[in-house]
Amino acid sequence: SDAIAFTGAHQAGITTPQQDRLHFVAFDVITDDRDVLVELLKNWTAAARRMTAGQDAGPTGALPDNAYVPPDDTGEAIGLPAAGLTLTVGFGPTLFTAADGRDRFGLADRRPAPLQDLPPFQGDELDPAISGGDLCVQACANDPQVAVHAVRNLARIGQGVVSVRWSQLGFGRTSSTSTGQATPRNLFGMKDGTDNLKAENAKALDDFVWVADGDGPDWLTGGSYVVTRRIRMEIEAWDRQPLREQEQVIGRTKGTGAPLGQKAEFDPVDFRKQQGGRFAIPQDSHVFLAHPTNSGTAILRRGYSFVDGSDGLGRLDAGLFFIAYQRNPETGFVQVQKKLRGDRMNEYIQHTSSAVFACPPGVRDGEDWWGRALF
Ligand code: HEM
Repeated sequence: SDAIAFTGAHQAGITTPQQDRLHFVAFDVITDDRDVLVELLKNWTAAARRMTAGQDAGPTGALPDNAYVPPDDTGEAIGLPAAGLTLTVGFGPTLFTAADGRDRFGLADRRPAPLQDLPPFQGDELDPAISGGDLCVQACANDPQVAVHAVRNLARIGQGVVSVRWSQLGFGRTSSTSTGQATPRNLFGMKDGTDNLKAENAKALDDFVWVADGDGPDWLTGGSYVVTRRIRMEIEAWDRQPLREQEQVIGRTKGTGAPLGQKAEFDPVDFRKQQGGRFAIPQDSHVFLAHPTNSGTAILRRGYSFVDGSDGLGRLDAGLFFIAYQRNPETGFVQVQKKLRGDRMNEYIQHTSSAVFACPPGVRDGEDWWGRALF
């Protein structure tokens, strides 16, 4: 079947070969009652367990025998397979310490030190209404209806306990997380994900993605941190650039995705190579600045393209919903993003939202639930 195992040492949806569709949702918790929150996380886990197996969200399903109760599934996924659905949960900084400083759920002393709001970066144009959140769920699937159905049912189950703060649809993966996957293209038309961390590289995942024993609070060991950034792409400006300029901005060719100065996609980047008296890969290109030789670190990218209608000024509101997993945001996303200060690509992009969440380790067995070790 096309179902992905829900249980495991790590949550699915991180190194799982990246599915093609995304519905990402961030919630605010609207109760101060810890027991009610715990109950919700248990109910969510049960629903997630079922939906990732291709079943209805609840045991009686979309078409219960009793027609006088609201169905425990909304029905739009009737007849659809699991479609590789993964549901990945995360806990935001404000779950531990509310914006007004309150410790609503008695979790403040369990807060991991690296779980901090991201610092401001040059060029940020963040909209608080689509940033942050107490909880998040990343739903990935190969069918958009399956991903949307999953998020909708979690929101339905959470009524009165959580409210949707923001949500983002994504339609084409902009990365690959497994060596078995072909590299997709983002809305700049460039192959994206070539030099990503991949599921097969266990050593790199241990070094850069999974929270290790001793890193922070025990409840997070085996987990990870997710950073999301909604990045608007000025595709009209990009489309007016000559092919050569586009390639110089990224540092790779548009056709094969080869590093400039090389031939094939997976040829090694060679930052010393000269061409016509200049570096083949410009030192202000995205790849030069983001590459581990310059950034000194690595992150697992798992982003999606989006088009959210138009901006009212005759342009598409399009871009990349950037998602990255890392062992520590400070030495992951933040470190890379600081290096990207002088990125030639900045002329064509704007970050419009930002969020960070701590993602617990995987659900172990039939009794386990999202966040059990935390509460
Ligand atoms: C590489 C596009 C934002 C980190 C790449 C590549 C492309 C690309 C085409 C080369 C192919 C590859 O190796 O995957 C974009 C676009 C972005 C964006 C269109 C925004 C709209 C970011 C951000 C970060 C980032 C915000 C992190 C702060 C990286 C890293 C690499 C990379 C680490 C691999 C570099 C290497 O090892 O050679 N990106 N990117 N990117 N990008 Fe981005």
